[in-house]
Amino acid sequence: MLRSILATLIVILGATGALAAGGEKPVKREYPVFPPAPYGQTQEEVAVKSAGCISCHEKTDSASMHISGAVAIGCTDCHGGSAEHFRDKSVKPGSVEYTGILKKAHVLPLYPKTWHWPTSANPKASYTLLNKESPEYLRFINPSDYRVVREGCGACHMKDIQAAERSLMATSAMLWGGAAYNNGILPFKRYVLGEAYTRDGEPAVLDSPVAVTPKMAARGILPKLYPLPAWETIPAADVFRVFERGGRNIITQFPEIGLPNALGQLQRLEEPGRPDIRQSNRGNATGIRVAIPVLNIHKTRLNDPHTWYLGTNDQPGDYRTSGCGACHVVYANDREWVSSGKYAKHGNKGQTITVDPTINGEHFPEMKGEKGHPLKHAFTSAIPTSSCMTLFALHLDRKSVV
Ligand code: HEC
Ligand code: HEC
Ligand code: HEC
Ligand code: HEC
Repeated sequence: MLRSILATLIVILGATGALAAGGEKPVKREYPVFPPAPYGQTQEEVAVKSAGCISCHEKTDSASMHISGAVAIGCTDCHGGSAEHFRDKSVKPGSVEYTGILKKAHVLPLYPKTWHWPTSANPKASYTLLNKESPEYLRFINPSDYRVVREGCGACHMKDIQAAERSLMATSAMLWGGAAYNNGILPFKRYVLGEAYTRDGEPAVLDSPVAVTPKMAARGILPKLYPLPAWETIPAADVFRVFERGGRNIITQFPEIGLPNALGQLQRLEEPGRPDIRQSNRGNATGIRVAIPVLNIHKTRLNDPHTWYLGTNDQPGDYRTSGCGACHVVYANDREWVSSGKYAKHGNKGQTITVDPTINGEHFPEMKGEKGHPLKHAFTSAIPTSSCMTLFALHLDRKSVV
């Protein structure tokens, strides 16, 4: 039993939901190779890598995203894309010619409809979309996403990257481990599951960068974290925890969820509260007799995402990007000064205060007030508490806090 669970764990199973791209078929695209950001270069080289971009974007809050002006990187070092396409001032924003230049300069997505292309606001509830989209487009919209972070940031931040990928904020190992042990899915108190993906969005195993000695193990350092197996492959460990008791009329077919009995005849024979939908009369791991808690962890992974995914971007507290930017790029999420500090005055609707005219509504009036943008194109180390949690408990009236 134990070995078969382990075997299932080791077979890395794709767990991408079909809904993430809403059934949209990917557009066929060939991307050029966009080189990684170099460790060092001259300001002239930087200027070349930003030239075309600035012909439309004109200005931004921090050209390098960094607090220090000494970090020498151009737009395409982080984002990829092609900086040799220029807009002449006479070309009006939104015109056919303008869009033509934009398409050449930008990197285009495989799933334009699902992203609501060309809108740059983060999509709501994107679930597994990041795993399906091309790494080139991910890098374009967010170079700090962990799938592609080595390209834009690796030359200077390799240690930060390796630490961030192994952080609980990325792996969810504690939630998965607790849920797996408490529900009897896995017999291990020492966690073996954790979230991580490859550049192409496949589930990945995380190895410890150094061999774990018994001393390190005693302090809780884990040698490996495996991906969460696909839910439909896991037998129910919780054999006594059937969701429904089931009715008296046990039919031989698998119960159909949502359509327990097509004609409704069978239900008439059932007593109230004992419907003919139950966890199944079938053997373990057939029909719907699967580990429901595993399904629940999968859903939590997508509805309450950690840093491998975008925030759900659908309500205050949930506006954010993925990767390093999940913490280091601030969004307007919380109006309370206790938890949001200097950011509180910008509200909680994920609206921008950037100076970039292509984003703030100057060039496209319909974009004014659009939700799902960072406050500014800038990193910060002043990360507000509201980035860590939605503070229900602290939403008291101000006087009682002071
Ligand atoms: C022809 C004008 C034009 C050029 C050239 C251009 N951009 Fe843009 N860019 C825009 C506009 C307009 C938007 C906002 C689109 C929207 O939200 O409707 C945008 C949005 C973006 C976004 C956000 C995309 C998203 O979906 O989140 C990034 C990143 C970006 N540009 C980077 C660049 C880089 C890097 C370059 C140079 C390689 C560049 N742009 C060149 C006009 C341009
Ligand atoms: C250090 C790497 C880095 C550099 C250099 C950089 N960016 Fe970005 N940019 C990012 C990251 C990370 C994001 C994602 C922020 C998010 O989605 O929260 C971003 C987002 C954007 C957006 C979307 C903003 C929005 O409100 O949706 C635009 C537009 C953009 N960059 C344009 C540019 C332009 C133009 C340049 C060059 C002048 C540039 N970037 C240089 C890292 C960089
Ligand atoms: C050319 C080297 C270089 C590249 C490329 C680079 N950074 Fe940095 N970054 C630095 C330096 C230098 C600092 C300042 C280090 C310090 O203060 O400890 C820094 C600091 C930061 C900080 C702290 C806040 C700040 O602005 O000082 C964050 C966050 C950060 N970088 C994220 C990123 C991300 C994400 C990427 C890729 C999208 C990236 N960096 C790419 C060199 C780089
Ligand atoms: C879960 C939140 C979180 C994530 C994700 C995250 N960081 Fe940080 N990072 C922090 C915090 C908190 C600090 C400490 C800030 C301070 O000391 O003021 C920090 C500090 C830093 C610093 C030192 C900056 C300074 O001014 O001292 C750098 C550089 C940095 N992070 C880069 C990165 C990079 C690169 C990534 C992605 C690979 C990343 N971080 C992901 C939360 C995060």
